[in-house]
Amino acid sequence: KDEHLTPFYDAHELAAKYYHYVLVETDEGKPAREYLRKRGFTQTAIDQFQVGFAPDSWDFLAPFLEKRGFLMEDLETCGLVGRRESDGKAYDRFRNRVMFPIHHTQGKVIAFGGRGLGDAQPKYLNSHESVIFNKSVTLYGFHQARPKMKKRNEAVLFEGYVDVIAAWRAGIDNGIASLGTAMTEQQAKMIRRNVDRVLLCYDGDGAGQQATYKNARILMDAGLTVTVANLPSGYDPDDYIQEFGKERFATDVVGNRKSWMQFLFDYFVIDKDLSLETDRVAYIESILTETAIIENPVERDMYVQKLAERFNLSQQVLREELSRIRSSQR
Ligand code: UTP
Ligand code: MN
Ligand code: MN
Ligand code: MN
Ligand code: MN
Repeated sequence: KDEHLTPFYDAHELAAKYYHYVLVETDEGKPAREYLRKRGFTQTAIDQFQVGFAPDSWDFLAPFLEKRGFLMEDLETCGLVGRRESDGKAYDRFRNRVMFPIHHTQGKVIAFGGRGLGDAQPKYLNSHESVIFNKSVTLYGFHQARPKMKKRNEAVLFEGYVDVIAAWRAGIDNGIASLGTAMTEQQAKMIRRNVDRVLLCYDGDGAGQQATYKNARILMDAGLTVTVANLPSGYDPDDYIQEFGKERFATDVVGNRKSWMQFLFDYFVIDKDLSLETDRVAYIESILTETAIIENPVERDMYVQKLAERFNLSQQVLREELSRIRSSQR
């Protein structure tokens, strides 16, 4: 019944093959091969993720697909080509970019993420949403990672394409990425249908930590158990693997993961000075507010004990405050 979508899928499949061929086999692909080599991409990884290259040209893909019978207006609809204002001529939207094909759950290519070589702006150019690309139900790498996710009963969630691929090289084959955007409820449900647990492995910067905090809530609301990778600030997973290697990534970052509460204990301290009483009170309130959401009373009690020990407070006082917060949340 979705026959009218066939040309869009076919165009993407063909484009992905063409870009991959250009990267791997041609002279035009040389700068991109060099770029990827410096970033540690192996040929196996390039093949596994069907990485490609869109050469630095305005009319590389469009004429290629036109000759094969694709309509320019269809290619425009799904974001592969743009139209010049002045004369309506079609041009390639992706130029001089390393191309990461994005697949839907069944494994068809539905979009691309294009990474500029060097410091091109924007750094990543992505396909816009289209009749075949609904961002809110798409996760990068999901199709390939799904059987591994199921086997391990866990998904590892990254920010970016490159992080998924770097982690894959390090033996983490159940990695997916949420395409830079905030996690949706639908994405969380897609994950939940396959696994019980998610390891959040976002960038070790402020934005990454905030996204961890926000997206963890959505994942937990979908019924998933969340832990957080222990990435030092200033590194994303790919940076870390490049600098310290895959073994240390496995042991110190993934192996040394934090429980959700451990993450919160660190997260709420970021903008506070715990030597100040007012900040200390605010900190305890933040932790109690998170504790209050937790369904499991045993788990809640563990956090109360932790707080009591750490700040030398009576558990009784903390429990009273927790009940107050819980009743105001209802
Ligand atoms: P980051 O901003 O963390 O990428 O974006 P990065 O790690 O610096 O990129 P590299 O390693 O230099 O290549 C993470 C993800 O957010 C989305 C992309 O999906 C990217 O993989 N993003 C980022 C965009 O869509 N557009 C952008 O301009 C930047
Ligand atoms: Mn190949
Ligand atoms: Mn980032
Ligand atoms: Mn990053
Ligand atoms: Mn990066």
